Amino acid sequence: MKTRAAVLHAPGEPWSVEEIDIDPPGPGEVLVKTAYAGLCHSDEHLVTGDLVPPPELLELLPGGTIFPIIGGHEGAGVVVEVGEGVTKVAPGDHVSCAFVPACGMCPSCAKGEQNLCDLGAGTFGGGMITDGTYRTHTSSGADLGTMAKLGTFAEHMVLADSSVIKVEPDLPLEIVCLVSCGVATGYGSAVNRAEVRAGDTVVVVGCGGIGSNAIMGAAAAGAANIIAVDPVQFKQEKAMEFGATHAFGSMEEAIPAVMEMTWGRMANSTILTPGVLYGDLVQQAMNLTGKGGTVVATAVAPMSQTDVKLDLAMMTLQQKELRGTIFGSASPNGAIPELLMLYRQGRLKLDELITRQYSLDEINDGYRDMNDGKNIRGVIAFD
Ligand SMILES: NC(=O)c1ccc[n+]([C@@H]2O[C@H](COP(=O)([O-])OP(=O)(O)OC[C@H]3O[C@@H](n4cnc5c(N)ncnc54)[C@H](O)[C@@H]3O)[C@@H](O)[C@H]2O)c1
Ligand SMILES: [Zn+2]
Ligand SMILES: [Zn+2]
Repeated sequence: MKTRAAVLHAPGEPWSVEEIDIDPPGPGEVLVKTAYAGLCHSDEHLVTGDLVPPPELLELLPGGTIFPIIGGHEGAGVVVEVGEGVTKVAPGDHVSCAFVPACGMCPSCAKGEQNLCDLGAGTFGGGMITDGTYRTHTSSGADLGTMAKLGTFAEHMVLADSSVIKVEPDLPLEIVCLVSCGVATGYGSAVNRAEVRAGDTVVVVGCGGIGSNAIMGAAAAGAANIIAVDPVQFKQEKAMEFGATHAFGSMEEAIPAVMEMTWGRMANSTILTPGVLYGDLVQQAMNLTGKGGTVVATAVAPMSQTDVKLDLAMMTLQQKELRGTIFGSASPNGAIPELLMLYRQGRLKLDELITRQYSLDEINDGYRDMNDGKNIRGVIAFD
């Protein structure tokens, strides 16, 4: 059938909203009518080229490229049709997308680390998780890949059943959408990866869609001091509404205040959630973090970047840690229902995350607003 999607044909180009062909779901797959898609910074990394694999990795992919690709990995919708053998969901079910699939059977899934599921290996390039072939095609018949095996910037999606999670039907789908990436990633970066405890001092660097949720996660875990760092005044103000206790324009500016409020011990953890993770930010975060503390790298760095500014001797001698995280180190099938329960109880301010809704045709305006610092999160609302 025909549907519409925002397609990126090459880095540096705008999103092209076009009619595409989508096949019926095959075995183990579901057809979903998309309700909302979030404008996460990770899709912008495709446009800037930061998240385009370097040539030596591209060579290993079928066709040697990830383009053209349907963007979007934060989303929610309603199941329209299920393929052979699907028992997890049925037509009419409301679902959250999961940008890391969970097979439930691989060693990572079996150990409760579904965010590291073996099926997530081919997030970029190639076709369906199920059999490697494509369900989406341009109007001229070329195969179309999908961001994180989802492609939520489309009116319809055919997804592996390992990429969807059933949610309660009375929940607002725009909230289910936000939880599918930004909320889970930010909240989990604080609660699971930084292991924030009651009384901690936590610094959150970059207060957009992910950082705002890291602040809420740190607050939920009982942090005493939550220091928000963002150069944009509006983000600093919103950070205070989400639970930050202090806000600064740069890590450098935050240092004296963190020193004073911790009697020189510095933060228990610093969570890096700026739009792009550049190598020089790591040592700045280490400087804000005290002995035995943790720096969590949640933001994504350019794939070609391998240099990091890091005082290794002090990392050793002060027993500090630098930790990466994907999906806030949470298991999608467990975390998404839990976060939605906290929202239902009024304990997470998720409605407040959405600054503006856009139509699919306005997607480039949405990303312009994100880059201009106007949005905590923009979402695309489909009919
Ligand atoms: N690890 C994961 O699983 C995962 C999941 C989703 C997103 N991400 C990544 O997280 C990052 C944040 O995504 P987002 O959607 O929140 O982006 P966003 O654009 O909404 O927010 C980024 C914020 O960082 C601020 N900022 C930029 N440079 C800064 C600096 N040097 N110091 C302090 N603040 C700075 C910006 O003003 C903005 O408010 C991106 O790199 C994204 O790709 C990672
Ligand atoms: Zn995301
Ligand atoms: Zn698995």
